[in-house]
Parts: sequence; C-alpha cells; structure tokens
Amino acid sequence: MRKPENQIILIFGASGDLTKRKLVPSLYDLYDQNLMPDKFAIIGASRSDLGDANYRNEMKEGIIKFALSQNKEKIDDFLNSVFYQSVDAKSIDSFLALKNRLQKIMDELQVAEKIIFYLSTPPSLYSVIPENLAKVELNNEQKGWKRIIIEKPFGYNLETAKELNASLKLNWKENQIYRIDHYLGKETVQNVLVTRFSNGIFEPLWNRNYIDHIEITSAESIGVEKRGGYYEGSGALRDMIQNHLLQLVGLIAMEPPSSMDSESIRNETEKVFQSIRKMSEKDVHKSVIRGQYLSSTVKGEKMLGYREENGVNPESKTETYAALKFYIDNWRWGGIPFYIRTGKRLPTRVTEAVIHFKSTPHFLFQNKSINNGSNQLIIRIQPDEGILLKIGMKVPGGGFNVQTVNMDFHYSELAHQRVPSAYERLLLDSMLGDSTLFARGDAVMSAWEFLDPVLTAWKNDKSIPIYGYPCGTWGPEVADELIEKDGSTWRYPCKNLADDGIYCEL
Ligand code: BG6
Repeated sequence: MRKPENQIILIFGASGDLTKRKLVPSLYDLYDQNLMPDKFAIIGASRSDLGDANYRNEMKEGIIKFALSQNKEKIDDFLNSVFYQSVDAKSIDSFLALKNRLQKIMDELQVAEKIIFYLSTPPSLYSVIPENLAKVELNNEQKGWKRIIIEKPFGYNLETAKELNASLKLNWKENQIYRIDHYLGKETVQNVLVTRFSNGIFEPLWNRNYIDHIEITSAESIGVEKRGGYYEGSGALRDMIQNHLLQLVGLIAMEPPSSMDSESIRNETEKVFQSIRKMSEKDVHKSVIRGQYLSSTVKGEKMLGYREENGVNPESKTETYAALKFYIDNWRWGGIPFYIRTGKRLPTRVTEAVIHFKSTPHFLFQNKSINNGSNQLIIRIQPDEGILLKIGMKVPGGGFNVQTVNMDFHYSELAHQRVPSAYERLLLDSMLGDSTLFARGDAVMSAWEFLDPVLTAWKNDKSIPIYGYPCGTWGPEVADELIEKDGSTWRYPCKNLADDGIYCEL
C-alpha cells in the first residue's frame, strides 16, 4: 500500500462520537502501520472550548478503547500531531481564525496546502461548513488540493439531496467531494468485486438465466441506543437502505467495469441504480413492509419498544425495520426479484447477500425437499466474514439421497492478513485521492429517486400500516409473505435466540 503525501486532516465535529470511536482510532491504526504521511496534522474542530492537551487526552481514550493496534509509545507519538481549534460553524470570523491556525501549523510542519476537511457534524451543517470554507478561500486549489468528506445522510429525500448537491457544487468540484459510505470500506463488500471478476466460474452464471432471486439482509440486535433523536428523523430506509444496502446491490448487480479506476466502477454502479424499477404507490403497498420494534422480554431481559426510547415520539411512525422487493430492468436482471431487509432489535447482527441459483430442470434424486436441486452462494459481509456455497451431495449408503453441504470459507482463515476497518480503508483512500469507494453525486441522486416514492407514499397514505414486531424476532411476519408468496423464504442466519450474537449457519 502506498503512503499518502504530506497533508492536513481537519475534522469538523471533533468532539462527536464518530470522531472518537472511528476516525481518530482509524488514523492511529494507519499510523501504526506506517501508512500516515511522513508529515501530517490532525486538527479537531468543534464548538467546545478545548485546548490541544485536553483534546489529545480525549482522543487517547478513544484510541485505547477502539483502535485495532495498541502501542503506548506510538500512541503518544501520534497524539503529538493532533491539535484542536474551537470553531463556530456559522461564524466567518471563526473560519478566519481557523485559516490562520491552519497556516501556522502548515508553516511549522513545512507541509503544503493539501487539506482534507472531514464533516462529521449534524447534517444541518453539510452545506454551511463548505460554504464558509469557500468564503475564506479554503476551497482554493492554487497552492494545493482541498477535499471535503461528507458523512451520511446525504439529504433527507431526493429534493433535499439535490439542494445539498447544488449548494456544494457552487464552490467545490465533484472530484473534491468524497461522500462516504462506510459499507464500501468493508473488506467483504469490496470482495464482491473480486469474487465476481477474478473467478471465471461465477460470471457466466451471474444473470437471469441461472439466478432465481437475490436476497440481502442486514440485521442488528441492538436498538437505536442513544441515537433516538437522530433515528426519529431517519428510519431504516434512509439510515441503511438508501446508502449501505443499495451500494451493495450496485456491486452485486453491476456489469464488469472496463478497469478498476474510480470512474469505471462508479459508472457501472450508477447504471444499476438508474435501472432499478421505480415504484408506484400501489407497488409500495405490495412490495414494501415497514415495522417497528415493540417492548418485549428477550432471554429474561426487558427491552424497550422503539416508541419508549429516549428522543422518540411516543406515537412515532418511524420504521426500525424495512423489507423491499424490487426489480432491475436491464438485460442481465430482467424479471429477477431482489429482496432486501434491514432492522434493529432482530435476533442477531448479520449482514449477508444470498445469490439463489435456479434449480436443476429435472430432479433425479430422492429428498427433493432438501435442496431442490438449487444452490446458494452466501456472501457474508459480517460478522464471520466469508463466502459459503451450498451444494447437494450424496448421503453415504444405499440409494441416492441428497443432502445440502457447505463449502465454507472464513476470512479469519487468512489470519496472517490483518483486516483493516472500513474507516481505515476509506480514510487512507481519501488521503491518496482515490474516490473509487466513495459514492458519486449522480449515484446518490439515483438511489434517492428509487426510494423517494416509498417515502412519499408512507408520508401521504395513512392506510399503509407499520407493523409491530417483538424484539429478538426477524421483524413483522408479513415480511415473510413478501418472499413466500413468490415460493421462497428468507434465509435465517441464526434462528436460535440462545445463539444471539453468534453466527450460526443452518
Ligand atoms: C450506520 C447507521 O450508518 O450503520 C446505524 O446509521 C447502523 O444505524 C450502522 O447501526 C451499521 O453499521 P455496521 O458497520 O455496524 O453494519
């Protein structure tokens, strides 16, 4: 891996949870692997009145708790490059002071004006900060490049996403804007590309002739935790599907790119998003299910219902579960259903994509019910990252009984290879100027275009139900019908509640 050139990383939202849990620990992990620039500074910026020393102490706690590698001496060395500047995001004077501080640090370090601005702030500041940076000419690339990284959610719906994009484009070029989606930083998500395009055996089968349907599940056993306020304005569709799961769909469904450069890959995912069939209000009734977790007792533990969580309206209609069936109208996927579901307070934490292949045209053997002559390729994104192929095998002994067995690869078997965290990978790429794993503006808009009719129908049509589901279950039962009426079932990666948190393959 290449080492990035000397530069400055400025994080707005410096005292927030993401900075402490993910960003600074990931930057330290890069430092530990000698993947930070020879000369760099990390400047935390937020409203709080902190000094460098206090901020370093706070970040030290984060590193000790959340970094993958722990080396006391290196942590202290690394922290010498961490600074803090109090900034009021709405005040130009504050930005002028920030610019002076930046200049001072760059002069001391003898680093050119190459700066990443990471926006880890509430979304209401996503247009304000870039605009104010531009007012003090910190978008100016005459003396060195400038990049902004924007966290999700990118907009609240199609209209606000367009407004945000337009406001950014007033002062920043597309190649300066990095829209981060941490799912694209996950090793196993990137491995979808390698599995598909480095093996001759999958691609010929990867189409409507051999695939029956595709299923993607992203389940979490946790609830909304301390993020009730944020989640109330978001919901599962905006929080997980608009970005993470659709990006995964993009990689699974795309055509082979002509090369691995950022534009070729992002062109292909964008084509997928454009081909997803838009839903009418009638389709929303038929093909989308939303749910909300109810208070329940799981394994003796009393769990709050969503409406009882802090920061949540007691009559809230925000979904904590969503399941969708949709089609991609192109030659590769015409007529093949895609089913995706995500939810909080489900039995376990698991994200996986299942490619269900069509069954054999004629089944010769006994025990048809066991695998029905069909195979599944399961791409386990997390936890226990890996790939599993289910195939039929003869049961030893008389007759021709068929049993489904697993060809199972676990990433952990590559134990000598350290698996970098998603943020580590994405921060390194942004420092290197590689935007392949960042969402392009047009793709974000296309993803909203697909989901906007669902959000509008949910908002306007009071007859669309939101189903309750007890914590620790796989969501509302009607979501089962979504797939069962087509003759299939969801895969339940872990049916047994006693195994909560542990991936158990059935
Ligand atoms: C975030 C969502 O983007 O992704 C959270 O806002 C969710 O609600 C999280 O819990 C899931 O990420 P991961 O990496 O744990 O699957």
